[in-house]
Amino acid sequence: MCGIVGYIGSDQAAPILLQGLEKLEYRGYDSAGVAVFSEDGLKVVKAKGRLRVLNDLIDGGKTLPGTLGIGHTRWATHGAPSDVNSHPQTSEGGRFAVVHNGIIENYLYLKNHLIRRGVQFVSETDTEVVAQMLEYYDHGDILETISKVISKVEGSYALGIICADYPDRIFAARKDSPLIIGVGQGESFIASDIPAILSKTRDIYRLKDGEIAILQREQIEFFNVDCEPVEKETEHIEWDIEAAEKGGFEHFMMKEICEQPKAVRDTITPRIRNGRVVLDDITLTPEQLRRFTKICIVACGTAYHVGVVAKYAFEELLRIPVEVDVASEFRYRTPIIGENTLMIIISQSGETADTLAALREAKRAGCRVLSIVNVVGSTIANESDDVLYTWAGPEISVASTKAYSTQLAVIYLLALYIGEQLGCFSAEQIDTYIAELERIPDQIETMLAHKEDIQFFASKYFNAGDMYFIGRNVDYAASLEASLKLKEISYIHSEAYAAGELKHGPISLIEDGTLVIALATDSRLFDKMMSNIKEVKARGAAVLGLATEDKTEIESQTDMVFYIPKTSTFMLPSLSVIPMQLFAYYVASMKGCDIDKPRNLAKSVTVE
Ligand code: F6R
Repeated sequence: MCGIVGYIGSDQAAPILLQGLEKLEYRGYDSAGVAVFSEDGLKVVKAKGRLRVLNDLIDGGKTLPGTLGIGHTRWATHGAPSDVNSHPQTSEGGRFAVVHNGIIENYLYLKNHLIRRGVQFVSETDTEVVAQMLEYYDHGDILETISKVISKVEGSYALGIICADYPDRIFAARKDSPLIIGVGQGESFIASDIPAILSKTRDIYRLKDGEIAILQREQIEFFNVDCEPVEKETEHIEWDIEAAEKGGFEHFMMKEICEQPKAVRDTITPRIRNGRVVLDDITLTPEQLRRFTKICIVACGTAYHVGVVAKYAFEELLRIPVEVDVASEFRYRTPIIGENTLMIIISQSGETADTLAALREAKRAGCRVLSIVNVVGSTIANESDDVLYTWAGPEISVASTKAYSTQLAVIYLLALYIGEQLGCFSAEQIDTYIAELERIPDQIETMLAHKEDIQFFASKYFNAGDMYFIGRNVDYAASLEASLKLKEISYIHSEAYAAGELKHGPISLIEDGTLVIALATDSRLFDKMMSNIKEVKARGAAVLGLATEDKTEIESQTDMVFYIPKTSTFMLPSLSVIPMQLFAYYVASMKGCDIDKPRNLAKSVTVE
């Protein structure tokens, strides 16, 4: 995720671009840059670091005069945060400057194609390929050139383009990444999101997939992929600025819950080609994979809960022993690890102190370290032998949601990749798994469309003092996350128990009206779960059941049920976690809690 902005009018562009970028920093903040047309031509200034670094470099815009420009705030995907990888990216001849939000999936192929034809690249970004192609394919008709370039590009993009030959125009195009066009009095704007231009105009066009826009001060034209003119209607924005920053959602947490279909899709899609998992990002060879006698997974909090799912998935699919630890325990337990251990580190921020210490411990012991990280260029990513990034974009809410979902997606990709390398699956099995994996984003979307059912249930129980989550196998793993989500934002005491453990102690806590949430999605253990539900029911518990759509018999023992679609067992947590996140959110909201910033917690825990 990145933020792009553009301005053409009679005011100075740079301060307006900086103002817009400030409102888009939530979309990424590892580097920022602007390109402005001044009297001496096209000028680009960009720098690694927060927006204030760029702001200081151009003295709030004063040193960059000109009334047309584009700007970018970056969340690194391809290429670590650095000055050269920041946007705008320019073409070799310097005629084109491009800002981009999205991922060009076939950029390596396109880049190599141009390199063979003598084009020289300077950055590691996927975006540079767009700037270079614009220059390479340009034969005078700019609209045709843009259309040709975007027809060659696979993946997602929102593009802002300026060209030295057209100092009075901004060009924009989009596919699968947001882009709006603002209409002012004698001025026009582009932006990734409404807050970036809301102080300037409330009248916008929404660019659709495949459309191209040409902006001038007084005129905006739209074209389809075939370069035919398109008529569009403006939309008047009524929201206030604060609501707009959260995309109309009341909290970042809900916004991020709803972003999960896209985040999971972005994480999975580039890594599946011709029906197989392709992990270009890692260098582990099949020989190295065969040498591992053990996998150790280390993480904290929500990321640790992903590790618990991974243990069930890896052991079942790969038949390799897996240990999973919270990092603060791992680093002091003298673990038995060495060069035959594959160490998997999971971290959204890539900066968690205990997780980093565990990584260093593992490296000292000679382990190969593969990390699953969201923040490109973070310390954990830098110090790992291999990194698989989750493409969740910045997670603002302290309570993690889309990081969990994308980390799970990477775990499944990894399990399928290793399994195929080691010959663990038949061709039929892998086909089924891949098809199921690719269905997850749509299935999450469908469940999110019924969030009011969860809201209704939350309204009955938000005053509860305690809640218990029970499950077996991956349902137990998902219970851990469900319980953490609830307690961290609603401050309700909750525990997750392996359902079979109830009679070994916890069942003494159950009394009349105690709420038990029973995750019973694993069909192999459904009957066992039904027995556990009966046990707590018999002690007076109110039970919310979570089961797959075919297990309607659960209704006989529960007060309310949510159904999730059927899929392979190891992928179930991707679906079961959705109603659980929603439940935590609605309970906290009904209690009036500060959802995005729960008390005593910080987003990134960089101290021990
Ligand atoms: C809970 C939550 C935390 C983090 C944990 C690890 O919602 O967000 O439990 O998962 O602090 O953080 P990262 O993944 O950044 O290492």
